[in-house]
Amino acid sequence: MSVIKKLALAAGIGALLSSAAWAQGLEGKVVGFSQIGSESGWRAAETSVTKQQAEARGVDLKFADAQQKQENQIKAIRGFIAQGVDAILVAPVVATGWDEVLTEAKEANIPVILLDRGIEAPEDLYLTSVASDQVKEGRVAGEWLVGTVGDKPCNVVELQGTVGSSPAINRKQGFEEAIAGHANITIVRSQTGDFTRSKGKEVMEGFLKAEDGGKNICAVYAHNDDMAVGAIQAIKDAGLKPGSDILVVSIDAVPDIFSAMVAGEANATVELTPNMAGPAFDALDAYLNAGTVPPKFIITESKLYTPADNPQSEYDTRKGLGY
Ligand code: AHR
Repeated sequence: MSVIKKLALAAGIGALLSSAAWAQGLEGKVVGFSQIGSESGWRAAETSVTKQQAEARGVDLKFADAQQKQENQIKAIRGFIAQGVDAILVAPVVATGWDEVLTEAKEANIPVILLDRGIEAPEDLYLTSVASDQVKEGRVAGEWLVGTVGDKPCNVVELQGTVGSSPAINRKQGFEEAIAGHANITIVRSQTGDFTRSKGKEVMEGFLKAEDGGKNICAVYAHNDDMAVGAIQAIKDAGLKPGSDILVVSIDAVPDIFSAMVAGEANATVELTPNMAGPAFDALDAYLNAGTVPPKFIITESKLYTPADNPQSEYDTRKGLGY
């Protein structure tokens, strides 16, 4: 047999071996998942999609709900390390304070994948981060408002997400970038609503009182749909019409915001897919079985939806997926 033929055969066997390894998938792998909590409809959808994805791939998912506390997440991650899991998924509640625990995971040789929120830590402490471009999300929301109000004066109130979380920081920045240079649009009030419906409502009630019962407010920009839904209720309670007296723009694209659009009470949302686990498990599969190192950032889409996009059908589709 010629040398070339031998090499070709060896290469073929190699390819066969690596595709056999690839075909193993994640069946039987143990993966810890430190979830933030259940503050929003989007978060609930992400939890359920992650569980579905794990089940479909035969992954033994160890789920830990941190109830919004970073200390609980750190404890859970340490627990996963002690159990010797094959990998860890973490949706980090805030951006800072992760170096120590992620160094422990690295020393234990356990790959960590970040889901939906970023952190300020050396990039070698995690395998990859599956998230949206959150600055872009804010920018898309801001550009929608700029295009909608044109030259008219517009006082905006902003409902921020959890203090210190990457989406709160980045969505604020992106929106401000979009309205910069449009002197007719001003953020007159900005406060955290912690990504929850109840706080969104409470904070909006305060904004309405402070702004002449809402007469001085042209739009509410909420960093997520749940806070927008809370704000919509507060606007109605104040005797105004959300969607027309006060424009409502937010981020997530969960079913409830599409119901609000159908009712004419919400004007725009930017989609954040709850399926972060699909790309995360694909990356993990390739890494564990074929040694393929994924890109450091896997960025999901940020699509704008308005009432022109058939909100009833968007609602039905998401409900059909179990969101
Ligand atoms: O990190 C993603 C954000 O967290 C979602 O936009 C929000 O709904 C959730 O609570």
